[in-house]
Order: sequence, then structure tokens, then C-alpha cells
Amino acid sequence: MDSQPSFEQLIKEDRATRDSKRWRGTLLEYLELVRQDAHLTKLAHARVYEMIMRDRARDILETEEPRVKRLYKDEALKVYDFFRDEFFGIEKTISQIVRYFHSASLKGEESRQVLYLMGPVGSGKSSLSEKLQRGLESLDPFYAIDGCPMFEEPLHLIPRHLRKEFEKMLGVHIEGDLCPVCRFRLKEEYGTRYEEFPVVARYFSKRNRVGIGVVPPVDPNNQDTSVLIGSEDISKLDVYSEGDPRVLDLNGALNVGNRGMVEFIEVFKNETEYLHAMITATQEKIIPAPGRHGMVYVDAVIVAHSNEAEWQKFKADHTNEAILDRIVVVKVPYNLRLSEEVKIYQKIIRNSDFRAHVAPHTLEVASMFAILSRLEPSNKCDLMTKLKLYNGEEVVEKGKTKKLDVQELRDDTKREGMFGISTRFIMKALDNALSDNVEGNCINPINVREALINMVKEADLPDDTRKGHLEFLQDVLHKEYLELLEKEITKAFVYSYQEQAESLFQNYLDHAEAYVNKTKVKDRNTKEELTPDEGFLKSIEEQIAIIGSAADGFRQEVIAYLWAGSRRGEKISYRSYEPLKEAIEKKLMSSVREISRVITKARTRDEEQSGKYDTMVQNLLQNGYCPSCVDVVLKYAANNLWKD
Ligand SMILES: Nc1ncnc2c1ncn2[C@@H]1O[C@H](COP(=O)(O)OP(=O)(O)OP(=O)(O)O)[C@@H](O)[C@H]1O
Ligand SMILES: [Mg+2]
Repeated sequence: MDSQPSFEQLIKEDRATRDSKRWRGTLLEYLELVRQDAHLTKLAHARVYEMIMRDRARDILETEEPRVKRLYKDEALKVYDFFRDEFFGIEKTISQIVRYFHSASLKGEESRQVLYLMGPVGSGKSSLSEKLQRGLESLDPFYAIDGCPMFEEPLHLIPRHLRKEFEKMLGVHIEGDLCPVCRFRLKEEYGTRYEEFPVVARYFSKRNRVGIGVVPPVDPNNQDTSVLIGSEDISKLDVYSEGDPRVLDLNGALNVGNRGMVEFIEVFKNETEYLHAMITATQEKIIPAPGRHGMVYVDAVIVAHSNEAEWQKFKADHTNEAILDRIVVVKVPYNLRLSEEVKIYQKIIRNSDFRAHVAPHTLEVASMFAILSRLEPSNKCDLMTKLKLYNGEEVVEKGKTKKLDVQELRDDTKREGMFGISTRFIMKALDNALSDNVEGNCINPINVREALINMVKEADLPDDTRKGHLEFLQDVLHKEYLELLEKEITKAFVYSYQEQAESLFQNYLDHAEAYVNKTKVKDRNTKEELTPDEGFLKSIEEQIAIIGSAADGFRQEVIAYLWAGSRRGEKISYRSYEPLKEAIEKKLMSSVREISRVITKARTRDEEQSGKYDTMVQNLLQNGYCPSCVDVVLKYAANNLWKD
């Protein structure tokens, strides 16, 4: 308790930090600040780019993860710490977004284009946009003309004829003109003494609509542009004459998003006319002021998003060509990497009120379903194999690791990642599984799979899609999960599984090496010289269907592979060579036929068997199961894996 700061302390410290950054002065004083730090005047895109780059960017290969190394060995892909803890498996999308900001920050053509995120439901478009907004909110304040409804850059006060000179002295470029409201105030209140105009530091805030504006899709029957550009206050029209800027309410999203960003949600649900305002805002960096008040300069990042169907519809209409040309499209497909999909649900659960036990492999199985539904079939392999390859795993087939190039698999597809089951669908299934098991307060692969099956049956899907989904759930995943489960239970059952596996591995290596080199095996204990035990070698190899003449080649491969590994300084273990690992695990599993009796015959266990059963349950509990799901999975295993 003592180590925690008190609430009062926290509040005071926070206030002190924020107060220390508050600033109020005149244009003249602001000019001095800019002279010391020209960055203060940076435009919106540069601000966002620098915000992203404040955190580290690293090469994706800077990792210890062998799977990531395998997947991206031929790609120059960067990962950005700014996004890293919240976004998974969409590194490419993110690097395209960063690339956009980079080139826009250099005031290239892209600084005058809309960043448009296009992807299926629940692929993270809104979350990406929100992340940028939260980033802005965490920045130091920016400087604005005090009282300006658009928080405009104070340098706008500098009259045209002096700008060249000021630009030279400050080392900055001055862009844009005063908004009608400030222009009027300047004339009325300060006359020619613009240097006395007050300037303040302001924090970005979405809620207070400072530097962040959001445009929700608008009711098509009521497309009033005031949402974008503000309006004239009718009540004030009585007091002031038409044309008096005091009647202006510059509170549209494009007004308040000046200096920061404006987000257009489901952008193509809006009328084209609406989109024109958005496009002029980026392309010309001006928007009309309501009524007869001319145009207003804006500087904002415009981020729009919608799903692919809306985009296709919009694109098909050739009258939209001019708009299309001013949009940078970044696809936000679903993630297709199993390990990353699991992280998505872990994140969502962490941020929610979901407080139940999650049994091992639950999120994995749910994620497998999501990804399977997002893959396009290939004639080179089945979908489960594709899923594993996309996950950077090695897939063993006929005793060999499958040599399929992941990039080629990806290149063969058309719309992969743009369709399938969404993250929200999976989250709902997790919730449903829990509400069906309130007393256990636990979700597990079995009840989640059931929830998914029920949801798919009820979902509004084309018949063949539904059929495909049900096949994944009832067939493909059923088998896959049973394999996982069998391994897991065996590990919990076999006394010191790891050691046994290593010892089998060492033995296999000794004998295989002697066999290949036509030498003898020296027994580790008795130092006796033995001829290589072919019977033993075969008993391992047959686990992965290496028989007859294939054995010689396999033994050579194993030795060569491991030799190469150890020369590179890698630590060699039974896990090093995927095909051999699989063979050893299967061998261990088959050597414990007893499991089946111990698990299935609850009533007739003798004392020794009961002891083994209890130890196994203990091990499972230690490995992350809870008393409720241990029961469930063991029953499931008894019924599906080892029924006589
Ligand atoms: N690749 C990903 N990494 C991390 N989280 C993700 C990813 N994809 C989706 N999510 C999470 O899934 C949830 C849904 O995402 P979000 O609301 O951003 O989707 P969207 O693309 O805006 O969907 P819609 O088109 O329905 O508006 C969020 O909690 C989001 O964080
Ligand atoms: Mg959204």
C-alpha cells in the first residue's frame, strides 16, 4: 500500500505537469518561441508522423521468434512501437499508413489526399483511427490564436507583405490565412497592432473537439453541411448584419479538426456533395465558411474508412473519378496469423469486464476458426496446412517439412483477408460460451466450439458459406483439437515427459549417426561399443510413416540438419527438427496405452491407476486448467480419443 502514491498526490502531480505546459502570451512572444523551436509550427501530417516516430521503429526480423523470422525472411518490413501493443498481424497495413504520413509530412502530394482505410467489418479500421487520435491527445499542447474557433496557427496574423522576411528569420514556411472570425476581431480589437493578439497553448482533445473532429455517417435525408463546416447562428442574425462574422459558428468537424485530424466514419454512406467538402479540404486546404463568408484555410489529416462493398459501389460510379484520384487507399484486411489472432482476443478480454477462466487452447481454437474462414482455398495444400504455414510453423508431411513458399501462396490469392468471420463474431461466441456455463465460470475449446456452431447455424449467411463454416467447426477443428488435447494429456500423464523426450532424441541421434557413418555406438554408461539398433530407429520413424527405403534418407537429413544447426551455435533439443519432434511425441503417446484405461475406466481404477490419474490432473491444473475445465476436457478425451 505504502509504495502507491495517494490520489491527491497523483492529481497534484498531473496538474503541475499540465500547468507547466500551459502557456499564454502574445504573438510577439510566440514568435520568440518559434525562433527557438521551429517545430512548433509543423503542419498536421508532420505532427502525426513525428508522433508515430517518437516511439521506436524496428525491423520485423529483430526478434527471437523463429516463426516470424521464417515468415519475413525476404521482406523489409518495419514494426512501429507506437502501434505494437494494440495491433497484431497487420504490420503491412500499418507500414503503409506510416508511409503515407511520412510522404505527407514532406508536403508531397499525399499531404493533399485523404487517407482511406478499407476493410471488412471488425478488422480494426476504427481502432487504428482512434489510436491516432489518442496519440494526438497525449502530445504536448500546440499553439493557437486565443479564441479562434479553429485554433488556428498564430503565424496567420503576420501580414502578407512581411511573411518572406519572417519566414527567413524563423526558418519556417507560413501557410494559410486568418479565418473570418479572427480577421474581424483583429480589425475591431487590435487595429494594426496584430503583434499583441493573444496566443495560447492548447491540448488536443476529442471530447472537447480541439484539433480532433469526427463525422459520423449522416442520415441521407438530412445532409446538412453544417456538420462539416459549421453554420450561421440564426439568433445572432437579428443582432448583426448579414456578412458580419460574429454570426458564424465555425464548429463543424472540419473546423474543429484543424491542426489535427478529422475522421469520416463509413465515409461513402454520405452524399457525393458532402464528399466534395472533404476533398477540397484536403486538396485545396480550404473549406467554405457558411453563408457569405468566403473560404477558410484548414490544415488537417483526413482519415476516412468504410468496408469494401461501399468502396466498390462508389468506385463503380464514374462520376466519382475526381474524388477517387484524391484518395490514398490502404487496405485493412483481417489478420491471418494464428499467434496474432490469439493476441487480439487477449487484448479485447483484458480491456473488458470479461472475468472468467479461459482454458488452454480456447482462444487458439476460436482463432483457428476465424482464420480458416478468411482463407482462400489453394490447390497446393489444404486450409489447415495453409493456416499453419501462414503462422510460420513447419508442417510435416510424409516425414518431411513441407516446402511451400508462403509468399507464393499469398500471391495466388485474390481477396484473402477481406472476408470471413470477424473479431466481433468470435468475441460474441466467447461471451455466449460463458453465459452457457455460468456455474463453471470458465470457457474452454469445447463450449466455445459449440457456441460457434450455434451462432453459425443462426447467422444470416449464404448456404455454401454456412456449410463451409460448419465443416471447419465440426470436422477440421474437431480433429485438430483432439490432436492438441492428446498431446497435452500425454504430457501431463507421462512422468517427466520432457526428459523422456530428450532421452529418446539423444538415443535416436547416437544410433542414427552411427548408422549413417557406419560406425559403432558407444553406450553412455557402460562405454560398450554397440552396432546401431535399427529396430529402435524404425520404431521412431514409423510414427511418421517413414518406412523401408525412405529411412536412410531420413536419417541423413536429420544428422545434416542438426549438424548445421549446431555449427550455427543453436541449442539442439528434441524440438529442433520438426519431423523428428513429431515422431518422438507420437512415440511417447503410443507408449502410454495405459492412459486410455486410466482415463476412461473411472470406476475400475486400482490404487496405482488412481494415483496416476490424480498426478495427471494435478499436472493439468498446473498447466493452466481449472477444476471445471479439467473435468470437461478429460470427459471429452474419454469419449472421443480413447473410447474402446
Ligand atoms: N489486427 C488487429 N489487431 C488488434 N486488434 C484488432 C485487430 N483487428 C481487429 N481488432 C479489434 O477488433 C475490434 C473491432 O475492431 P474495429 O471496431 O476497429 O473494426 P472496424 O474495422 O472499425 O469495423 P467496422 O467496419 O464494423 O466499423 C476492436 O476491439 C479491435 O481492436
Ligand atoms: Mg468501425
